[in-house]
Amino acid sequence: MREIYDVIVIGTGISGLSAAIFLKEAGFKVIVITKEDKIEDTTTNLAQGGIIAWKEGDTPESLASDILNAGYNYNNKKAVEVFSESGPKLVFDFLINKLKIDFTKTKSGDLNYTEEAAHSNRRILHYEDHTGDKIQSALISYAKKIHIPILTSHTSIDLITNNHHSRDYQELYKPREVMGIYALDNHKDIVKTMLAHNVILATGGLGNIYEHTTNHPSATGDGLSMAYRAGADIINAEFVQFHPTSLFHKDIKRFLISEAVRGEGAKLIDHKGNKFMKKHTPLKELAARDVVARAIFDEMRKQGVKYMLLDIANFYKGEIPLVERFSTIYNTCLQGGIDITKQPIPIVPAAHYFCGGIKVNLAGRTSIENLYAIGEVSCTGLHGANRLASSSLLEGLLWAKFSANDIISNRTEISKQRFNNIPDWFFPEHTESFDPILLNQDWQAIRLTMWNYAGIIRTKKGLERAGADINYYAHRIFKFYKEAVLTRQIIELRNSIVNAFIIVNSAIHNTKSVGCHFIKE
Ligand code: SIN
Repeated sequence: MREIYDVIVIGTGISGLSAAIFLKEAGFKVIVITKEDKIEDTTTNLAQGGIIAWKEGDTPESLASDILNAGYNYNNKKAVEVFSESGPKLVFDFLINKLKIDFTKTKSGDLNYTEEAAHSNRRILHYEDHTGDKIQSALISYAKKIHIPILTSHTSIDLITNNHHSRDYQELYKPREVMGIYALDNHKDIVKTMLAHNVILATGGLGNIYEHTTNHPSATGDGLSMAYRAGADIINAEFVQFHPTSLFHKDIKRFLISEAVRGEGAKLIDHKGNKFMKKHTPLKELAARDVVARAIFDEMRKQGVKYMLLDIANFYKGEIPLVERFSTIYNTCLQGGIDITKQPIPIVPAAHYFCGGIKVNLAGRTSIENLYAIGEVSCTGLHGANRLASSSLLEGLLWAKFSANDIISNRTEISKQRFNNIPDWFFPEHTESFDPILLNQDWQAIRLTMWNYAGIIRTKKGLERAGADINYYAHRIFKFYKEAVLTRQIIELRNSIVNAFIIVNSAIHNTKSVGCHFIKE
């Protein structure tokens, strides 16, 4: 028996769960799926800094101007306008009033707005320095309260489309429509045919194709790759944002040192204790992210060192005690032998956010019928060539609402007969178990190629080399995929090589440096 859903949502971060909540409350038969065993294993859960929110005295015009400046005016102006008008209020309506999230308050009991780079106003709400897990757990509790089914340990393999999969040849001549997904049950090794009138991709980012990333290990760009294979339009893929400050430590990986640390006064210094940002930009530590990441990378290269340092111990200016304001950073660094109240923190830039993605309109619709994309996997154009800090959680939430509203007001129904023409997953007769050494080797090759040639500072020659190498790995991995027993790991590897190909090709085609796509002459 194959289930038919009104909407399948893939991903359990802020965008996926919020969309599911809006749809379920409107009476839709919705299911959420995640490849993780735990619902909370998302990049949302790791978010430290905070979320842009409405504040007395701030204006949509001022927010819009900051987003456009950070994004080098490469942004979709319409997306910036609706985000600045409607986004900040939604934090109050949905997160504070509905989900009852108690963001950090000042001693006098007011909401404590914090500052981050390239913002002209302190307009960011946070919960200490672990805003993400506060939002994530509130979303999960609410989703459970209203009985949204959440299917864990299921890896989406491919989107089902009428053109690609139907047994009825007439479907070839119709406009392309998404009709569901094939999903692998990670533990039972079976593939389910999950049919749906609409699919929402909320699968997050792809930082794991880089050697250093702040992303959760699950961020392998699955939605982007699935949408690409289904033929959806993808834009701005050259814009991969590197966060200037991730912890440099031999044992602790992927740990972010929030931009809010610089917002609250921290200075970047070299190994001799010299501040160096003034040499690179008059805005120093509070310049846009791409500028700060490049300055750090440049100094590391010139000085021949593997990391730089961030000093909050001597420069903290916040009202809340440092160990409380940055409790996660304090405790994690302390576990690694670094006391941030006494010594500077070793940092390196790391892949953090994908500003490009599946092209969507203001309702989250992609170029394929019945397919929506929201959050990091999508490209609304809001971020342009470089994302403004603390805008991503809110973009995910706002477009979750827009896409749910669009589905609610344009209810589409695919007939039973058309669904009946969709076959179940085809398993080849002979498959081989893969050798994990081969898999690791392919991952390392992709990560190093992307880090060295399609990273913070790119060159024409390096990108061309990356293009050739990625094509070669792709050829090998696709062959391997056809012959291997299907597992989550194999699916992620196939998705990652596709995503590397998309990014490198976009970077080759955009010969002009802008924002986080920087080509050295
Ligand atoms: C941070 O805390 O620095 C990350 C915030 C963001 O990526 O928007």
